[in-house]
Amino acid sequence: MSAAYIPVSTHSPRDSEEDAASSLLEEKPVSHRRRWCSSVRWSMLATISLVVYSLGICWVTKLALLGSYRPQPSAPASSFPHPDEKEYVIAETGQHGDTWTHRLVHGRSSPEIDDAWYDLLKPFNTRVPAERYEATMNNRTSVRVADGSDNPDYYVTLTVYHELHCLMRFRWFLDPKYYANKTWEEQAADKAAMGHYRHCLWSLLESVLCNGDTSIRTFHWDPHMAAPKPDSPAERKCVNWDWLHNWTMDRSFLLQDRLLSHPTFGRLNENLMPVRVPH
Ligand SMILES: *[C@@H]1O[C@H](CO)[C@@H](O)[C@H](O)[C@H]1NC(C)=O
Ligand SMILES: *[C@@H]1O[C@H](CO)[C@@H](O)[C@H](O)[C@H]1NC(C)=O
Ligand SMILES: *[C@@H]1O[C@H](CO)[C@@H](O)[C@H](O)[C@H]1NC(C)=O
Repeated sequence: MSAAYIPVSTHSPRDSEEDAASSLLEEKPVSHRRRWCSSVRWSMLATISLVVYSLGICWVTKLALLGSYRPQPSAPASSFPHPDEKEYVIAETGQHGDTWTHRLVHGRSSPEIDDAWYDLLKPFNTRVPAERYEATMNNRTSVRVADGSDNPDYYVTLTVYHELHCLMRFRWFLDPKYYANKTWEEQAADKAAMGHYRHCLWSLLESVLCNGDTSIRTFHWDPHMAAPKPDSPAERKCVNWDWLHNWTMDRSFLLQDRLLSHPTFGRLNENLMPVRVPH
């Protein structure tokens, strides 16, 4: 306690009620009862002062801590699987040679390459058990899977599979003859297709910014060129893709399973068209 809070008897007794501030500095009148009142009041004031002082200390400590430490927002539990469940590996990406990712991009357009992309996108349609979904998604709704059960799963897609869908579309973009039987000019004139590419580009941009990958990329000198040349290989913390893909596969369905049923149009086929024409 500061010395300023120690009462000193310098003034003559006052009968008027004092406010808290002045009572901290003045002694109470001399009568016995008054002395008793006074000591109760002093105790209360001392307690209040102690509480205020403690709160002040807590506040200053909090400010000091926040200066050097920012609390991390906890990962949204709405992630599926939960972030704490995810398996990671330290991997070297950007390796030259015949890797499976290199083949997916550079392989000549063919049914084999299309199958490889199809396998990658296979668990696009994912189902989350209703209890798990409702426990973490607050009031955000989604479509329910029409599996005939009392409490059907929710239909979702994991962001990574939407990103893969976008990357596949960009692969198509690079080969318009094969994928759309179109020339570059015809493709550029297709407003709907271009709108989809822009949507995908925006989606990937948001993911890149969101994930903010800070793994280091190096440079080297080329004896024949002035500018430093960037290297592709980088050591990164990556999700264990085999694990994640397996995890999602075990919780996904195919459109061929016809598990989607529109409230008005009824059950949908693999092309998301009504199986029956509505009456
Ligand atoms: C969800 O909706 C209910 C009822 O509309 C509301 O009381 C509750 O606050 C909402 N919860 C959240 C997390 O938004
Ligand atoms: C591709 O387009 C050309 C010209 O528009 C057309 O003649 C041809 O039949 C198309 N090929 C296929 C496989 O659709
Ligand atoms: C995922 O892994 C489990 C355990 O290894 C296996 O039983 C299951 O068949 C795998 N799922 C798929 C879709 O490969």
